[in-house]
Amino acid sequence: MRITIISIFPDLVRTFLGAGLVGRAVEAKTLETKVVDLRDHAHDRHRTVDDVPFGGGGGMVLKPEPLFEAVETHRQPGDAVILLSPQGEPLTHALATELAGSRGLLLLCGRYEGVDERVRLELVDREVSIGDYVLMGGELPALVLLEAVARHLPGVLGNETSAARDSFAQGLLDFPHYTRPQEFRGLRVPDVLVSGDHGAVAAWRRQEALRATWAKRPDLLERAALDETDRAVLASLGRDSA
Ligand code: ADE
Repeated sequence: MRITIISIFPDLVRTFLGAGLVGRAVEAKTLETKVVDLRDHAHDRHRTVDDVPFGGGGGMVLKPEPLFEAVETHRQPGDAVILLSPQGEPLTHALATELAGSRGLLLLCGRYEGVDERVRLELVDREVSIGDYVLMGGELPALVLLEAVARHLPGVLGNETSAARDSFAQGLLDFPHYTRPQEFRGLRVPDVLVSGDHGAVAAWRRQEALRATWAKRPDLLERAALDETDRAVLASLGRDSA
């Protein structure tokens, strides 16, 4: 898969793309990335990419000309052009999975107060938000989206941790994890995890995922795929809390 990122902070983006499992995926060419400096597409002496908003008010708006030129120069066939903005559709596990099936993504990082509306109207296929809060720009959101998508590409995670096994793939929060030592400051790892009984471990993990979701994000349970055993576990949690 190919991901192109257009930003006024190309070095920040490149640093991230060199690190960790994303860095490894880039090295292995599972993920092909290109970082474009928006200022390379601004042709005045000061390489200006922003201007004051028509109608007044504070802040600056990213100008259309550099963004149009950057997208038209670097967009490749099959690329979905995505603008990161707080006005976008929420980034979810389902959206990350869907985007991982694209041939390519071209990510536009907004800055300042916003992006000239003609960019959104003419160039953008999808607008994506990483949450209901406002950041100073789209770089971190673009990297969040990239990492959420990259996890779904074959070979990026080891077999043991495939994205299909993510808790969110099942619509639930994750179960608790433990590692050595078995006892730490008087706190013991639950016996079932050291029992060697794989069936019992799986049942415990499912129960704890249901418990965490019920306690912290009950809204998720309305959409999760639950079977009879899950419903019995949830019913017993309800009784426990009463
Ligand atoms: N740019 C600024 N804030 C953002 C957000 N919450 N999501 C995506 N892009 C943004």
